[in-house]
Amino acid sequence: MNQTIVVYYSRKGSNKYLAKKIANSLSCESEQIRPWLNVFLLFLMNIHLGIKPLKNNIKEYDTVILCGPLWMGKLIPPLRCFIKKYFHDIHQSIFVTCCGSTDAKKDEKFGHGLVFKEVESILKDKCVFCQAFPIGLVLPDDQKEDANAFMKTHLNDENFKGEIQERFESFIHRIFEIKMQP
Ligand SMILES: Cc1cc2nc3c(=O)[nH]c(=O)nc-3n(C[C@H](O)[C@H](O)[C@H](O)COP(=O)(O)O)c2cc1C
Repeated sequence: MNQTIVVYYSRKGSNKYLAKKIANSLSCESEQIRPWLNVFLLFLMNIHLGIKPLKNNIKEYDTVILCGPLWMGKLIPPLRCFIKKYFHDIHQSIFVTCCGSTDAKKDEKFGHGLVFKEVESILKDKCVFCQAFPIGLVLPDDQKEDANAFMKTHLNDENFKGEIQERFESFIHRIFEIKMQP
């Protein structure tokens, strides 16, 4: 068994774009997490009714790359539900997010650093590593910290270049190295 799957949730498309790009680079499957009730307000209130069963059998994959956004400094309910539901089927997992928080602010209240700690504590030794692709990487310097600008920006073929592309290539390289390990 040396197979990888990218499992993702995306509301506005950036994490779907990222998930598809990862799957394409690794020539692997991808599948979207589909909540039973896709009501954003309920998510924000932390009310969630679970997710529909995945079509793929997670047990068959040695690596699950889990991809999705962060909201309010938290691991979002569809991703949390996925981990809870498939925990015993996951062999090892890599968590990846296209988020709003910058690297400089990762340890602040809404930063990805805190969510990574949460993911690591839930997945325990199944978590190989976590990787952020802050949307600010595709914004000009004067807009990197601008919440309005990053909320309106979504990853696409036009803006996925420069710093984000370099980070992406290192990320894929790291996965290949992990997969090469006995
Ligand atoms: C209600 C809401 C809350 C958010 N909270 C955070 C946050 O706490 N930390 C963060 O880094 N990004 C936050 N974001 C930004 C999203 O993570 C970011 O826009 C992400 O790229 C959206 O992914 P998607 O296009 O796949 O839905 C928030 C976005 C929304 C809509």
